[in-house]
Amino acid sequence: MNFEPHNLLVTGGAGFIGANFVRHWLYTAGHGKVVVLDALTYAGNPENLASLAGDPRYAFVRGDICDEGLVREVFERHQIDTVVHFAAESHVDRSILGPDEFIRTNVVGTHSLLKAAKRAWLDGKGVAAHRFHHVSTDEVYGSLGAEDPPFHEATPYAPNSPYSASKAGSDHLVRAYHETYGLKTTVTNCSNNYGPFQFPEKLIPLIIINILHGKPLPVYGDGLQVRDWLHVADHCAAIGLALTRGAPGEVYNIGGDGETTNIHIVHSLCSLVDEHLARNAELRTAFPMSPAATGGKSQQLVEHVRDRLGHDRRYAIDFRKAARTLGYAPSRDLQTGLAETLNWYLIHEAWWRPLLGDSYAKWIDKNYSPSRLPSMPPTAAAPAILPSVPPPSEPVPGR
Ligand code: NAD
Ligand code: TYD
Repeated sequence: MNFEPHNLLVTGGAGFIGANFVRHWLYTAGHGKVVVLDALTYAGNPENLASLAGDPRYAFVRGDICDEGLVREVFERHQIDTVVHFAAESHVDRSILGPDEFIRTNVVGTHSLLKAAKRAWLDGKGVAAHRFHHVSTDEVYGSLGAEDPPFHEATPYAPNSPYSASKAGSDHLVRAYHETYGLKTTVTNCSNNYGPFQFPEKLIPLIIINILHGKPLPVYGDGLQVRDWLHVADHCAAIGLALTRGAPGEVYNIGGDGETTNIHIVHSLCSLVDEHLARNAELRTAFPMSPAATGGKSQQLVEHVRDRLGHDRRYAIDFRKAARTLGYAPSRDLQTGLAETLNWYLIHEAWWRPLLGDSYAKWIDKNYSPSRLPSMPPTAAAPAILPSVPPPSEPVPGR
């Protein structure tokens, strides 16, 4: 039987995916109350949820998931029966330069939530109908070779960055609370998300905004690393399905069927921006430093910089378990999703402009210091979007 959430606690709901999920849930799923708990770190932005102001089904609490007293109080005050846990430090490059916060939020913070859930739902009288949904990443599985089959739910964990190691730790804790105490948990491990409201430090918004300002487009190493790009709307739909149709203790991999190289993403965005500016004089006036404003090509901005330490070469997701058991299927192809995302960033300058202040500039200086530039010869041509990997012939084991 399907689970019906009533009072949802959404941690990290002011971040990129969390905010998309909260709107998706309230606008499309239509039932239940949503309480967002978010510390509003550099990545959390109240503007992401501004459209919900005044909605009686929505409440916002500013606070840290590591604050056990606060988490307990939120559970009690709002009679929480469902957790959808997004809150995390999420940027791999930041984890390389400063891992401590990743261990604190991603591992200790997840444990704080699990303890509160156990206390509210299992200890004492208990709440039989409950769910703890944990949002995780494909990065816990490590890196694939070009010919390897995609990650599935039983692929052994082999995290390579402090970020993915901290997410792996949190996944294990969620699993342990299910196995040991019987907490009704579900976990989704998804691939790289993109779409509206993504903080500009991540590849796709970074490239769009740098093109518009005529700034270098930093491509790590040879740019031939492969990611499976998942539109955030498809990811949010998948989380909704896992929450309502998923079985306690199960893990679901969520992919976008959008495997391609980083350099292809960068070249695609260059072409899309050039096309927009070529046919729109207002955009040429708004972004005069963009090469296409003066008849140039954005691709001239590409700079191959020193590679990320421990950079995973390829991620790919086999999402047949989610397709079979949840009815999940991605609805957008990558080219359409990229074009829509670019449109969103062009229309929403008022959203991203304020994010490029002093602290963002400091991050850019720190991560892209001159010592990183340039160290690699440019690649000749962007490879086309890779064909999706054929599914293995054996059914995927569950976990
Ligand atoms: P994000 O960095 O955009 O947002 C994270 C949110 O968590 C922010 O609102 C931030 O303020 C909040 N937060 C951070 N520390 C907190 C704390 N201690 N207490 C309370 N709130 C805190 O992240 P995102 O891209 O939206 O990712 C959401 C989740 O999805 C994360 O768990 C991430 O690991 C996972 N994920 C993301 C991707 C991706 O491509 N973005 C891919 C796979 C998995
Ligand atoms: P990112 O958006 O940081 O996501 P993740 O590290 O979780 O995959 O990066 C996506 C890919 O783009 C990754 O292979 C690293 C690469 N990348 C660059 O080449 N240059 C950049 O400036 C950034 C931020 C990422």
